[in-house]
Amino acid sequence: MSPTHKNPQTLKWQAMSRDHHLAPFSDYQQLIDVGPRIITKGEGVYVWDSEGNKILDGMAGLWCAAVGYGRHELAEAAAAQMRELPFYNTFFMTAHPPVLELAKVIAEIAPPGMNHVFFTGSGSEGNDTMLRMVRHYWACKGQPNKKVIISRVNGYHGSTVAGASLGGMKYMHEQGDLPIPGIVHIPQPYWFGEGGEMSPDEFGIWAAEQLEAKILEVGVENVAAFIAEPIQGAGGVIVPPETYWPKIREILAKYDILFVADEVICGFGRTGEWFGSDYYGNQPDLMTIAKGLTSGYIPMGGLIVSDKVFDVIKGAGDFNHGFTYSGHPVAAAVALENIRILREEKILETVRAETAPYLQKRLRELLDHPLVGEVRGVGMLGAIELVKDKATRTRYEGKGVGMICRGHCFNNGLIMRAVGDTMIIAPPLVISKAEIDELVTKARLCLDLTLQDLQG
Ligand SMILES: Cc1ncc(COP(=O)(O)O)c(C=O)c1O
Repeated sequence: MSPTHKNPQTLKWQAMSRDHHLAPFSDYQQLIDVGPRIITKGEGVYVWDSEGNKILDGMAGLWCAAVGYGRHELAEAAAAQMRELPFYNTFFMTAHPPVLELAKVIAEIAPPGMNHVFFTGSGSEGNDTMLRMVRHYWACKGQPNKKVIISRVNGYHGSTVAGASLGGMKYMHEQGDLPIPGIVHIPQPYWFGEGGEMSPDEFGIWAAEQLEAKILEVGVENVAAFIAEPIQGAGGVIVPPETYWPKIREILAKYDILFVADEVICGFGRTGEWFGSDYYGNQPDLMTIAKGLTSGYIPMGGLIVSDKVFDVIKGAGDFNHGFTYSGHPVAAAVALENIRILREEKILETVRAETAPYLQKRLRELLDHPLVGEVRGVGMLGAIELVKDKATRTRYEGKGVGMICRGHCFNNGLIMRAVGDTMIIAPPLVISKAEIDELVTKARLCLDLTLQDLQG
């Protein structure tokens, strides 16, 4: 047994990983050489690994565990539904109570005029569904040429062929000949990384104007929709400058295209509102959801569809699209219970009024650290930019500073994710002020250790 392992079972699990498991977004040789950290348990905002380490999960799993880990009500809801009706499909003129009740509850919390839900098994499938539905919508309106979807560089919309194509991650496009035709990208509103000499407000306008330029370049008669996350998550918690969304709204009002908000991360309370679109006052025609819908306890995603879109497609025959697990009864029962907890425990209200302002204030105290060039965030989302020189926003090129910091975090009982040299957090929405203190204290310690490594 390696001297770094206390639990012999850890090595056995790592051998299983090495011999059989193909993990997502992983370098398989690295996984073989180092072995994964095995997470065995979760409670509240903490997870435990197989070595017995207790770790504050600053990423809520993968932006998922809104209500935190270990909520027995969710397990009970799943078990009760499994006993009653573990599976039935929602194809061919059938349905079951949980899926119908969930669709109704989602319509209650969604922005006005968004009253219909198509369920999927994931966020990626939600975006695939979106692509097919918006093209179907325009075909139903007698404009079948309106097919192109405009997306953003460094946006993340999933890993299916359509999801990865909609996403603007170059390293994903490089594998498998993506994007598929009919998807084009415009720059992201990432002022810290790409704003140059412009002020954040100037840059926000410039980035929004790229949408108009692209619509005109492609021809509005060919454009079906614009898709964007209210705040880019996997791209590095990119909070757009204040001028960005108002300018985008202005442009969208000028042209006859659909607006899709990918709410897979921002939905279900992450910004303190039910949806990121509510936070910014945006009015999308479609919204993709997943993650916080079930707090990640069970896979489920979906597409919330406005009356405007539904009224066009409802009289046009079958929508020839669906997944075996669309509206799975057990997932629907868990989602209903999750939303009940979010509502009855007033979790969004607490985030909005107390814990998110506290988190944002405490995170910004890290700005005095020599490594920190910017701290930004909204609600329960945060980003810390690691730099060599604050004034010029210059990075430590080629040093992998983000991954060094991430390693220190894991070894010191904190999960922060590294996107390049941007450290990001998205803790469970139920994190308390004392736990926020712990998060920030540990983050500072890990910044110190990272700086020591760079200087040593
Ligand atoms: C904004 C956004 N959209 C879509 C997806 C894809 O969701 P899934 O991994 O459930 O397919 C993700 C996943 O992280 C996401 O962050």
